[in-house]
Amino acid sequence: MFAKDLIKKMVLETDRLILRELTLNDVDDLLKVLGDREAMKFYPQPFDRPMTQAWIERNIDRYKQNGFGLWATILKESNKLIGDCGLVVQQVNGVEEVEIGYHIRRDLWGRGLATEAAQACRDWGFDRLGGDRLISLIHPGNIASRRVAEKVGMSLIEEIEWKHKSTCIYAVEREVR
Ligand SMILES: CC(C)(COP(=O)(O)OP(=O)(O)OC[C@H]1O[C@@H](n2cnc3c(N)ncnc32)[C@H](O)[C@@H]1OP(=O)(O)O)[C@@H](O)C(=O)NCCC(=O)NCCS
Repeated sequence: MFAKDLIKKMVLETDRLILRELTLNDVDDLLKVLGDREAMKFYPQPFDRPMTQAWIERNIDRYKQNGFGLWATILKESNKLIGDCGLVVQQVNGVEEVEIGYHIRRDLWGRGLATEAAQACRDWGFDRLGGDRLISLIHPGNIASRRVAEKVGMSLIEEIEWKHKSTCIYAVEREVR
């Protein structure tokens, strides 16, 4: 992506990361993240190319409808897409909530990158959106994701059946971030 396009689509910047809108040119790099069997073990299956393209298209629709979605997460040191992180509207127990979601390429796990991106999304969400809380919906066995939620300031609220799966609801309130 040319520098001027990157700046046009940029949403957030942290010490090590740039978050910008996904585009259909990101399919190959995002497939390296979402196509990884180990990373996607809490999903029904790892994504293939058409699923990754559909994932990007769904987020482009979200940018148009809501002004936000999951954003491409770019590692500044390599200028490469290494995951996605952002905000997604979800229906939970009949209530509209905004979820912080994240996926990072497996060879970069454990460096605090998901936490850095998610904390920036939390601040963006509270600064730009009206709601009083942000949530994360996490498989109970997904310890790394639960730990990221905690480091974002979230607490476990309850465990429910959501979309036919046991799911932990983590939440952070505006005033305790
Ligand atoms: C969840 C995910 C995004 C975390 O990315 P990351 O960049 O490695 O996250 P961070 O480095 O910021 O933090 C991970 C934390 O989990 C901890 N962790 C990871 N695996 C763990 C395990 N098996 N047991 C205990 N803690 C674990 C790490 O030690 C770290 O905590 P710490 O800083 O207190 O030591 C990454 O594992 C991923 O992409 N998973 C697949 C996609 C996914 O499940 N997304 C979430 C959907 S709800």
